[in-house]
Amino acid sequence: MAVKKPRGTNDFLGKNVLLLEQIEETVRKVCKSFGIGEIRTPMFEYTELFARGVGETTDIVQKEMFTFEDRGGRSLTLKPEGTAGAARAFVENGLISDAQPTKLFYITPCFRNERPQAGRYKQFHQFGAEMYGAYDAKADAEIISLAHTILNELGLKNITLRINSLGCNECRKRYNDTLKTFISKRLDCLCEDCKQRYEKNPLRVLDCKNENCKKALSGAPSVLDSLDDECKTHFQKVQEYLTVMGIPFEVDSSIVRGLDYYTKTVFEFVSDQIGSQGTVCGGGRYDNLIKECGGSAMGAVGFAMGLERIMLLKQAQGSDDQIEDTPDIFIASIGEQGEKKAVSIGYSLRLKGIKAEYDTMGRSLKAQMKYADKIGAKFNICIGDDDIASDCVTVKNMESGEKTSMKLSNITEEIIKTIKENK
Ligand code: HAM
Repeated sequence: MAVKKPRGTNDFLGKNVLLLEQIEETVRKVCKSFGIGEIRTPMFEYTELFARGVGETTDIVQKEMFTFEDRGGRSLTLKPEGTAGAARAFVENGLISDAQPTKLFYITPCFRNERPQAGRYKQFHQFGAEMYGAYDAKADAEIISLAHTILNELGLKNITLRINSLGCNECRKRYNDTLKTFISKRLDCLCEDCKQRYEKNPLRVLDCKNENCKKALSGAPSVLDSLDDECKTHFQKVQEYLTVMGIPFEVDSSIVRGLDYYTKTVFEFVSDQIGSQGTVCGGGRYDNLIKECGGSAMGAVGFAMGLERIMLLKQAQGSDDQIEDTPDIFIASIGEQGEKKAVSIGYSLRLKGIKAEYDTMGRSLKAQMKYADKIGAKFNICIGDDDIASDCVTVKNMESGEKTSMKLSNITEEIIKTIKENK
């Protein structure tokens, strides 16, 4: 029996891989204009990095990590997200002593042992961006504006930006206490995990997917009521900067995010067109993580988007329709001299960036023409001994049927000109 791919993983090929390529191109282009350089970190890290960074009481660390031991018995984990590894690399490579801010982006596979469904996979891809060194609300707004710009450039519509603030360590402690009092009266209705979360980190109870827990937590106090003046002003400024950039948003005090490192601003970009896994992008400020990774205290803010969810949304909105990868020209040939000419013209065109194809299967002329049609070549020519002798060949536009005679001795330049005129 043939071996199948593991559940919750995807093969990307054909149109899907082109779509992924297009998304990555947009990401790289926009990141350049925002002055963001790329970082590539290992696919696995020591487990303690995620336990400390993402948080012991999060679903990711408690249930979803792919963890294994190296030969020395040290625990390693496939990265469930990109932030912790990027922060570790930022500190370890001494970027901390560069002029700040430092702005980095990554495109990486991530691994979470979640129950697979549409938009939720065990291996998925994140594009993420992180900005280190800045505590100012302008940095939060800049990072949000980057995500907004990329989603726009990708032609995606009807995505809502929701923002919230979890406050600084003190605000969060105050909120956890308020929440604990609220939860204490509903403890019996909670799942076993949430009973533990209630003890260790009540905020995580708000993040539970269990329907009973969700019900029990309805009407919970708002985190925004626990913010001190400094955190309130910071959140207010983020909103003002978003407003001056013309970026629409909604304040949603129910957003707590599923990772423990967040402080102050948190945000999500959400679509209702791709089912229950509609969060295409999530992020926020995390001012404690760089210190946690061994660096000095330093502001940080970032986000990550799931590329599979972006692909699903592009497909749902039909904006993947224009993607095509058909050859510019098929060079058919007949006879030994014709075949050689086809190979040499095809190679010259490829060197000039033209997508040229010729026969490598030993097909008859009729079969070559059928194949050219099947692969959607925009032009075709056919070269035989007679054409070589007369230094003349006919180029056919496959869409309009129009035929043009060209000198074979000058064919590369003529074809390039014709193809460019038709683009
Ligand atoms: P996250 O919300 O866990 O945040 O993940 C970010 C995005 O990754 C989600 O919004 C979603 O699009 C995608 N994603 C997450 N899990 C899956 C999955 N199982 N299958 C498919 N897509 C998924 C983080 O990971 C943070 N590191 C974001 C961040 C960066 N915060 C600050 N900097």
